[in-house]
Amino acid sequence: MKVFTEKQPLKAHLSSKKIENKSIGFVPTMGALHKGHLSLIEEAKKKNDLVVVSIFVNPTQFDKEEDLVNYPKTLDKDKKMLESIDCDVLFYPSVNEIYNNNISSDSFDFDGLEFKMEGKFRDGHFNGVGTIVKTLFEIVNPDVAYFGQKDFQQLQIIKKMVKKHNLKLKIKGCPIYREDDGLAMSSRNVRLSSSLREAAPFIYKTLKKARKKFKTKSAEKVVSWVEKEFKEHSLLKLEYFTIAEEKTLETIITKESDKKYRAFIAVFAGDIRLIDNIKLKQS
Ligand code: PAF
Repeated sequence: MKVFTEKQPLKAHLSSKKIENKSIGFVPTMGALHKGHLSLIEEAKKKNDLVVVSIFVNPTQFDKEEDLVNYPKTLDKDKKMLESIDCDVLFYPSVNEIYNNNISSDSFDFDGLEFKMEGKFRDGHFNGVGTIVKTLFEIVNPDVAYFGQKDFQQLQIIKKMVKKHNLKLKIKGCPIYREDDGLAMSSRNVRLSSSLREAAPFIYKTLKKARKKFKTKSAEKVVSWVEKEFKEHSLLKLEYFTIAEEKTLETIITKESDKKYRAFIAVFAGDIRLIDNIKLKQS
């Protein structure tokens, strides 16, 4: 695996591959890699000649300093994992290499997608995500970039950015990868104490029950039921649960048969914020 910390040598390496007509699959990450990331990389390997993974804990997408400071950093372990699955290229830049002494976000218009759900609770988050993802796309110039559906809103926002800025690549959303007990894999899971880790699968269990209820009950009833379930939980605190249309992320008012819906949830387990979502069926 080739490791680059600077963008110019990386760009030179990748353009030589482009000249050889090699397709580039790209998996941007913030490190603390887990099996969910590996599943994205495997998918990228299947469909491309060359796979590039970036590890960069992007400061502009964190609205709370302590969240940035506490974000797990496991570079040596990450490198070993990437080598074990034959990743071709790792890009691991410093903050200065990316932001050049000016750690700030550009301002994006994602047609309102940025103000819903995560956008309501994480100030400036999606401007930070848009800034780093666009910058990384410019450096790597991939044919396809891979993102997990756990961050479904992020995925839709990146698709929107690609469309609006006419970027020449495809975005592929990949299924949520779960632990055996259903907890969605996340770099943050390693920070859960044993009691919170034991409690956390309640999130997916509740989502599955909500999916079942949605077939026969109104969205309003399902939302109230989920809110009640979490009120009664001693360890997990619900931040939001919402049912929204997949493309626009508009909260559902009444079910429309031609629309695709998903349930989205954010929960605090102590000070660790976990998100998840599930695709819903109407019958
Ligand atoms: O999903 C993530 O890990 C990050 O938001 C991303 C896409 C790597 C941008 O920093």
